[in-house]
Amino acid sequence: MKKNQRLIYVALVIVYILLSSSCSKRQADEIVPQTSNPGGGTSTVTYTNFTQALIQTKCAGCHGTGRSAASIWTFNGLASITSNETRIKRVVLETKSMPIGGSLTAAELASLKEWFDNKMPN
Ligand code: HEC
Repeated sequence: MKKNQRLIYVALVIVYILLSSSCSKRQADEIVPQTSNPGGGTSTVTYTNFTQALIQTKCAGCHGTGRSAASIWTFNGLASITSNETRIKRVVLETKSMPIGGSLTAAELASLKEWFDNKMPN
């Protein structure tokens, strides 16, 4: 009896680990600006070299077209960000309530802030 309970416990732990790692793997990867001069000189954070990949990886799972939170805000390109600038800045940079179930690294937050500060270049 005791042995059975231990086996069930161990099985549950393994299932939990498998589920949590498979779901969070992509979200856990840090997104960095893909600039043409890596490691040197001044670089500009743009939609194309950074923000698109960040939002696609960390937000679109819920906010992509047809996804669970699409009715609240749908990410479908640069214009969907520029026209919701205030809301996105508030929940990501200020209250940090997004992304639900994950978090952005300090470097990602800094790059995103720089992009907003530079008026969201494409
Ligand atoms: C796990 C699903 C999930 C992820 C990932 C997620 N969101 Fe959300 N988002 C929601 C839900 C659910 C709501 C509505 C409930 C709430 O506001 O807490 C929401 C609300 C919002 C809102 C509306 C806030 C308002 O008050 O107007 C914005 C903007 C937003 N999310 C942006 C983002 C951005 C940007 C990311 C990525 C950095 C992101 N979300 C990641 C599920 C998610």
